[in-house]
Amino acid sequence: MTVKTASDIKAMEKVCQLAAQTLEYVGKYVKPGVTTNELDQLVYDYTLSNDAKPAPLNYNGFPKSICTSVNHCICHGVPDDTVLKEGDIINVDVTSYKFGFHGDTSRTFFVGDVSEKAKEITEVAETAMFKGIEAIRPTGTVGDIGFAINKYVTRKGYFAVREIGGHGIGRQFHEDPFVPSFGRKGKGDRLKPFGTITVEPMVNENNKPIIELSIPNSTIRYYETEDKTLSAQFEHTVLITDSGYEILTQV
Ligand code: MF3
Ligand code: CO
Ligand code: CO
Repeated sequence: MTVKTASDIKAMEKVCQLAAQTLEYVGKYVKPGVTTNELDQLVYDYTLSNDAKPAPLNYNGFPKSICTSVNHCICHGVPDDTVLKEGDIINVDVTSYKFGFHGDTSRTFFVGDVSEKAKEITEVAETAMFKGIEAIRPTGTVGDIGFAINKYVTRKGYFAVREIGGHGIGRQFHEDPFVPSFGRKGKGDRLKPFGTITVEPMVNENNKPIIELSIPNSTIRYYETEDKTLSAQFEHTVLITDSGYEILTQV
């Protein structure tokens, strides 16, 4: 985990605020009839007009500026001509790059009115993210975060995805450590004051194996549930402080 200086932290705070504003901005356009490509274009334009870069674009060959993961897509969905329809849920994942640093945040939005089942899994994913964040201690471990997430998700009758998770973040989009959505208290990589990580649990309706799919000309893979049941996710970038934590991507 890279430890940030005071000036690095100022830069992280600013780029994370931009990422948060961008997510809020694009969220207003999530409605029945819009395509995921249109959401992608909105974020591309908004980001460039803020003198920043959309980090996903060309990252390991990823072709778009955001990830759009609809319904049974778990993460890394690629924007295309898919038209959103009433009842869908969609995770929009925004990562901004500016001042030499990255800010990464996502949330699951409702497309019009959605089922009670869709509302519940979305609420569980958001609360799971906050449970993970609240478990952060300056001298704790990633296992503390994963334990808190998994405990909550399991109690609610859902399943936290194990294959993919959070990460260190800073000058690089993805840095050490891996931040799992399961774990044991006190185990795993140690956190450090003034490190920055993401907490980004993905929550599924069942614990069936997930499907990994390739993206043309990219080493990034996207993931889906095998039986097309729903998956939801939220993500914040968080600064570990000497007394606790600070959520950097909160508007
Ligand atoms: N923003 C995603 C994350 O939370 C990563 C997307 S990588 C991309 O880690 F290439 F798909 F954009
Ligand atoms: Co991330
Ligand atoms: Co992200």
